[in-house]
Amino acid sequence: MVAQRSFVSSIAITLAVMLVAAIAVPVRGEDQTRAKSGTGQTQAEKSLYDRLGGVYAIASVVDDFIERLLVNDVLNANPAIKEARARVPKAGLKYSVTSLVCQVTGGPEKYTGRNMKEAHKHLNITQKEWAAMVADFQKTLDAFKVPEHEQKELIGIVESTKGDIVVGADSKK
Ligand code: HEM
Repeated sequence: MVAQRSFVSSIAITLAVMLVAAIAVPVRGEDQTRAKSGTGQTQAEKSLYDRLGGVYAIASVVDDFIERLLVNDVLNANPAIKEARARVPKAGLKYSVTSLVCQVTGGPEKYTGRNMKEAHKHLNITQKEWAAMVADFQKTLDAFKVPEHEQKELIGIVESTKGDIVVGADSKK
């Protein structure tokens, strides 16, 4: 009889614990959401990849950006860049850059190409050429009406690669 009562009470305790846990979880979640929206950071819960619209949106932005770079006179005046342009199919370059951007912004795609230093070291890219590339990137971001906050994050990602990419003669200017 005693054993039966303690069995019954242990079931009652287990049920009570489960009930408290079931109530506590949503309440905690609600508090977190409120705290974040109070500071205006709810959007930060989404990855940059999701905020940009995923792989199709990113591929479209990369497509426009690379088309601009291909006809950029400052870049084409560099014989090493011009030679690579003629050798490397643009569809492949767009694919590589898209997968890299998807990966670093939090998407499921995987970049399998070379690191930025290896991919660009033979191109002798200068500060002037870098600035020409950034100006084209800005035109693309504006054409796609990418919001300012996301633009800043993307430009920050691009800028983080500069030390590996800019090696040409005027790179200190
Ligand atoms: C002035 C700036 C840049 C120029 C002129 C440039 C040009 C090029 C060229 C010509 C190639 C093909 C090289 C070859 O295969 O011989 C290449 C490859 C590549 N670039 Fe750039 N690039 C620049 C900046 C960037 C930036 C900022 C990124 C990304 C943040 C980037 C991402 C890539 C990727 C992912 C590849 C492919 C690497 C591989 O397939 O192994 N590039 N770039």
